[in-house]
Amino acid sequence: MKVLLLGSGGREHALAWKIAQSAKVEKLFIAPGNAGTQNVGENVDIKADDFEALKNFVVENGVDMVIVGPEDPLVKGVYDDFKNDERTKNVPVIGPSKSGAVLEGSKDFAKQFMKRHNIPTAKYETFDGTTVEEGLKFLETLKAPYVLKADGLCAGKGVLILPTLEEAKKEFKEMLGGMFGNASARVVIEEFLSGIECSVFALTDGKNYKILPEAKDYKRIGEHDTGLNTGGMGSVSPVPFATKEWMQKVEDRIIRPTVEGLAEENIEYKGFIFFGLINVEGEPMVIEYNCRMGDPETETVMLRLKSDIVDLFEGVAEGNLDKRDIEFDERAAVCVMLVSGGYPQAYAKGYEITGLDKIEDSVVFHAGTKMQNGKVVTNGGRVIAVSSYGKDKSEALQNSFTQAQKIEFTDKYFRRDIGQDL
Ligand code: AMP
Ligand code: GLY
Repeated sequence: MKVLLLGSGGREHALAWKIAQSAKVEKLFIAPGNAGTQNVGENVDIKADDFEALKNFVVENGVDMVIVGPEDPLVKGVYDDFKNDERTKNVPVIGPSKSGAVLEGSKDFAKQFMKRHNIPTAKYETFDGTTVEEGLKFLETLKAPYVLKADGLCAGKGVLILPTLEEAKKEFKEMLGGMFGNASARVVIEEFLSGIECSVFALTDGKNYKILPEAKDYKRIGEHDTGLNTGGMGSVSPVPFATKEWMQKVEDRIIRPTVEGLAEENIEYKGFIFFGLINVEGEPMVIEYNCRMGDPETETVMLRLKSDIVDLFEGVAEGNLDKRDIEFDERAAVCVMLVSGGYPQAYAKGYEITGLDKIEDSVVFHAGTKMQNGKVVTNGGRVIAVSSYGKDKSEALQNSFTQAQKIEFTDKYFRRDIGQDL
């Protein structure tokens, strides 16, 4: 079959790498892709949210399945757009409908959904420009630190954690005043939860689901979790505290109620659900939902997925995911992200990347790269993900760090403490 994958980051290269291994795939296209995805498929110069151009491409090239990597096209309704077009209505799109993607697109919706279905999460309330005074009063009832969340999508920047009530009140007013534009026209204030985070992923056909290997990601730029938040500096899988018993709680209290809740509310959802969890004294609670896979978690999770991912996607499309097998690799997998100096603030692009041909024992996924005059150059803050297997986490990390030294570009930086806290 012919498959089209949407997106251009490290997550998409990892998905493309896994999809290309499927015996069912005769041709893989990636729109728009990056300098790495062109090694496992054919890049197509169409933006992931240009639905008209994507549909034309699908029709002209006889594409049999579309897989969506990032949240943006999902929140904009790519699933519905394909479904409502006579020409593409029978081409399965792996990803939720627009109403399902709201789980990620609106924090307030996600919190209300969890409340309706008794899914464990932090206590919260939502406020807008007409309820500023109420919001300030609610803050006074909470203990420090204070968690403020812009309701809408902010490319991962919409959550503020403030140490004092004074700062929380000030930022709350600024958020409602347009700090994140329309995305912070509504603000969720919630109780701070203390614990270690873990990302859990499920693939669902709307009724059945399969749970993928869990992973932990490292969000801060500095070692020992210091400095600004990034799109992710690395990840590890498995996560030691995600024992069989803990994962059973996750399934019983969070995953099953979510899938059943979506079905009960007639929300079409055929794709990945990302559960951003926190382990509070042994009990899993939901920090957030995302309507896609995680980045850089996918760069480890794909290494640990042994089964044919396209077979699972067919199960999603046909509504018989319960008939498909899912198997994990018992080895550990880790990912170390090489980033541009200066990131997550201002950084330069266009530096040549060398040493990619010297990599052994690791899988390199491109995150922000492109081809320029026949050379691979940096094209983003997060540049290259170096993913490795090991008999355990330490061996996998050793592999990634060794390979990471071989890849060179001006002002390269990476964290050397990935996985050390576990
Ligand atoms: P989110 O965009 O919802 O994932 O939030 C970004 C990050 O903020 C999370 O990964 C957590 O580290 C942190 N965070 C969000 N909500 C809470 C909370 N209620 N308690 C503690 N930390 C939180
Ligand atoms: N790694 C977190 C995310 O993908 O949102």
